Amino acid sequence: MSRSVLFVAGEALPFIKTGGLADVVGALPKALAKRGHDVRVVIPLYKKVIEKFYDQLERIGTIQVHSGWIDQPATYYTKTVDGVVYYFIEHQYYFERDSLYGYDDDGERFAFFQRAVLDMIYFIDWWPNIIHSNDWQTGMIPLMAHACYADDYRYQQIKHVYTIHNLAFQGNFGVDMMPSCLGLDYSYFDNGSIKFDSGISFMKAGIVYADKITTVSPTYANEILTETYGEKMDAVLRYRREDLWGIVNGIDTVTWDPKTDPLLAKNYTVRNYQSGKKANKKALQEELGLEQNEDVMMIGLVSRLTNQKGIYLITDRLQEILGLDVQFVVLGTGETNAENAFKWMESEYKGKAVFYCGYNEELAHRIYAGCDLFLMPSLYEPCGIGQLNAMRYGSLPLVRETGGLKDTVQPFNQYTGEGTGFSFWAVNADDMVYTLRWATEQYYNNKPGWKGLVKNAMNKDVSWEASAGIYEELYYTICNWPDQ
Ligand code: ADP
Ligand code: GLC
Repeated sequence: MSRSVLFVAGEALPFIKTGGLADVVGALPKALAKRGHDVRVVIPLYKKVIEKFYDQLERIGTIQVHSGWIDQPATYYTKTVDGVVYYFIEHQYYFERDSLYGYDDDGERFAFFQRAVLDMIYFIDWWPNIIHSNDWQTGMIPLMAHACYADDYRYQQIKHVYTIHNLAFQGNFGVDMMPSCLGLDYSYFDNGSIKFDSGISFMKAGIVYADKITTVSPTYANEILTETYGEKMDAVLRYRREDLWGIVNGIDTVTWDPKTDPLLAKNYTVRNYQSGKKANKKALQEELGLEQNEDVMMIGLVSRLTNQKGIYLITDRLQEILGLDVQFVVLGTGETNAENAFKWMESEYKGKAVFYCGYNEELAHRIYAGCDLFLMPSLYEPCGIGQLNAMRYGSLPLVRETGGLKDTVQPFNQYTGEGTGFSFWAVNADDMVYTLRWATEQYYNNKPGWKGLVKNAMNKDVSWEASAGIYEELYYTICNWPDQ
């Protein structure tokens, strides 16, 4: 029996993306819709969405949204893609800005968004069984639904799932936001349920008030119960550990398919990956001004350039890495120190290393296809999408054994030939470089071993199929199994 689910998030493909959250909210609803569920998604109507998609959106209407002292109009738009209905909430001042997040008034902006989402339900008169909220931008929804609509039984019947994609981004704000933007009385602060340090936390509210909490891999679900990875939320997570599920992400295997990807120089499958990857490597070398050499091992990095991603393990050892017989392609943007280090690398190792500073979806596809090895030595990684894309395209991931990287990349066993990549455990640049040297050796001197790894990686199921089934089970757990 089908369930109705409203996904709420700060970003979603195919409309807007800053990271893996958009990949997930773009693909998981589609996979659930395929299983027969009525799945809809709501995000803010950002400037970039307007620029690209405005003509394709259908206007539903405008209502006045009251949230604390906020009294502002929200206009709703909709568009259906692949069986999933998307809604967009328009508010020019709050959302038509150059970036999605990172403003001083983020608390107010997303308080408005969450209240506008809940008001949308009565406005369009569609009452989902479940609201599935994601990350700090939507963490207040379970509490707001209970507290702000207490006398409407239709809201009280809705169940709540809250998914943590990255515990480090918590949406922590001053307590004065409770009356001013959220329309909540201080009791929720006084009883400690959303109190965090001296203020309040959207993330904590999601953890406390959702019926079930999920995060994006089983290993990360365990890690965040510890002080090391818990970002000061470990105690409240331990308190709710019975309701915490770790479900690994998949990827959209239609968009990410080397067999059909229109962005590649040559399409390929696991059968002809060698000629396919060589052609893509040559095209990438030409595109980026690297030396033409189809035999050299090419390392790729597509990432936010932040501490989380283990970027400084790499920048500390650029000379050693580039001392190997490799080429290195870096695509990303982020912290100035990291960007500067890669700019230095590009100028020092002309023809051998290149840094594209920025965000470029198309180039990302070509890097996954052209590279042999994909570097992702994250200090922590809730799941990680990069390594899944890489395996799908036959680029072997070299990862640190943490979170979803540990759950999705099987390290090479040279005795059995098993594995889909390479890994190391300690947060230590020596270990990373050692593993990289070893991988390079396999690439040049153990061709059958490498070939076997690429085959394993490309044959690995990285689709949403299995995980969508687990989310379905979760939904049934909180709102009745079909035969009840
Ligand atoms: P996170 O969400 O923490 O940044 P993930 O690995 O889950 O990390 O997801 C990152 C996603 O964003 C992947 O799909 C990756 O290909 C993409 N990505 C990251 N940086 C860039 C970039 N500079 N240009 C294009 N795509 C990028
Ligand atoms: C976050 C995490 C990343 C995860 C993504 C999607 O951005 O950092 O590990 O893959 O969310 O769940």
